[in-house]
Amino acid sequence: MNNTRRRFLKAGLLGGAAVAAGCTTEVSTDARGSTAPWRPLRVLILGGTGFIGPHMVREALRRGHIVELFNRGRTDSDLFPDLKLLEGNRDNGLDALEGGSWDVVIDNSGYVPRHVEDSARLLAPVVSHYLYISTISVYGDFSKPINEDTAVGTMEDPTAEEVTGESYGPLKALCEQRVISEIGAERATILRPTYICGPGDRTDRYSYWPIRTMRGGEMLWPGTPDDDIQIIDVRDLANFTIDCLEQKIMGVYNTVTPKGSFKMGNLLEDCIAVTAANMSPTWVATEFLNQQDGVQLPIWEDPKGTNSQLLTVDGSRAAAAGLKNRPTRETARDTVAWWKTLPAERSATLHAGLSADKEAEVLALWHEQNA
Ligand SMILES: NC(=O)c1ccc[n+]([C@@H]2O[C@H](COP(=O)([O-])OP(=O)(O)OC[C@H]3O[C@@H](n4cnc5c(N)ncnc54)[C@H](OP(=O)(O)O)[C@@H]3O)[C@@H](O)[C@H]2O)c1
Repeated sequence: MNNTRRRFLKAGLLGGAAVAAGCTTEVSTDARGSTAPWRPLRVLILGGTGFIGPHMVREALRRGHIVELFNRGRTDSDLFPDLKLLEGNRDNGLDALEGGSWDVVIDNSGYVPRHVEDSARLLAPVVSHYLYISTISVYGDFSKPINEDTAVGTMEDPTAEEVTGESYGPLKALCEQRVISEIGAERATILRPTYICGPGDRTDRYSYWPIRTMRGGEMLWPGTPDDDIQIIDVRDLANFTIDCLEQKIMGVYNTVTPKGSFKMGNLLEDCIAVTAANMSPTWVATEFLNQQDGVQLPIWEDPKGTNSQLLTVDGSRAAAAGLKNRPTRETARDTVAWWKTLPAERSATLHAGLSADKEAEVLALWHEQNA
């Protein structure tokens, strides 16, 4: 017996849409003008727990699709007790997928090209569509404007598998290539999100801003209110992912807020609006920050630095294909609401941004030099 743990959907979870795989239902003309009979997609998610997976699971279920998960059962293993879990490891442990059949697969746990190649090869005959969650980190040079045709980064040793800050992007680029070579571009979607944020984000890169704002007092804001930033709300990414599956949207898409639409000043306004905190911002010049050791501010870049284009990626292709970005204020509001539900030991520490001591030290020096 293999290590497959079988858990079956309870009728209640899918509600009225809980129809068996393959069954079809007549529906009236949908928003896209299609009159084809509707049937749920059988969706396999490689991952499905962690940060982005649960949002995709919930959106797929909300739309009436049938979802099965493949993962090691280590992360939040009790999150979806009603879903069928195929337990295994992407590293030489795909047995649980043998003999299965699905309409589509979402691969959101692929970091190593060999793992992605193995799963894509195994699934190629039994799925019609493979959607791979990549990243904008695939691009090789962030000093120049970025769109989907910009060259991706490369690995000195393309057989290396260690995922580090440096290798993460080039490895994901190789993973994308394995998807295309095993599945074919005509059956593959590659989504390249920028910083994914919203409820459930474990990195705190976006959350730092509203949560630090909540603490009040003088707060360091880098650069100028006009500096560009870019995010993707995890729920918008999940919606677009399921849209791609339903509408058979193939190809490569940067998934970001529209270029130039979101500035540090907007982020500040969002943070103040959703927290109503008594925070007073101090904008600190980029040139000064560049001279300080250990000052890392998440989701912000020096507009004149080597990563100047990281936060102005062209997302028009995804927008034309239907990606919709909710107002950033909603992301801020829901991030704060989610944060307030976390256990005290988790919310005691932000995993990104400046510590209170470091911030006070840098602000004191800034005021001293600008008195
Ligand atoms: N966070 C961001 O801002 C960001 C930005 C751009 C792109 N992305 C991409 O988004 C994707 C998902 O991010 P995330 O933070 O939600 O994911 P994550 O936490 O890395 O992935 C978690 C999911 O993958 C499963 N998993 C991990 N290793 C596995 C293995 N060896 N075999 C089988 N299952 C495995 C986990 O379950 P088990 O632990 O139980 O196995 C869990 O379900 C990644 O592809 C990442 O590159 C993230």
